[in-house]
Amino acid sequence: MKEVEVWLQTFGPDQKTPIHRHSCEEFFVVLKGKGTLLLGSSSLKYPGEPQEIPIFQNSTFSVRGNDPHQVWNSDEHEDLQVLVTISHPPVKIFIYNDWSMPHTAAKLKFPSYWDEDCLPAPKDEL
Ligand SMILES: *[C@@H]1O[C@H](CO)[C@@H](O)[C@H](O)[C@H]1NC(C)=O
Repeated sequence: MKEVEVWLQTFGPDQKTPIHRHSCEEFFVVLKGKGTLLLGSSSLKYPGEPQEIPIFQNSTFSVRGNDPHQVWNSDEHEDLQVLVTISHPPVKIFIYNDWSMPHTAAKLKFPSYWDEDCLPAPKDEL
């Protein structure tokens, strides 16, 4: 699809995404479990101390384009399962090592892990 991409993602207890950002908007529906959305700043030069937003079953939330974030199954026992939709695939993910890494130093991971088998690797632009 050109306008959106939708997938189901399951996090085991204490599993998290890397800290990352992308220009696509992202929308979540929590199908199972609970966790924490960590949200940094896109207006500082680096994400900074993240806001910690609790997420729980049947809640929906969205992440604006280019806001650095991390989804964390902060529960010790249950899986966290989310239905995720992004605008304008393929997503270009920039990964941070930590919340104080400058936006300009975040590393592009493209194609993303799950697109590696169906999208060509980026060409050298020189
Ligand atoms: C979520 O929705 C389902 C279906 O309506 C319901 O069975 C379940 O209890 C709800 N969970 C919470 C935590 O509200």
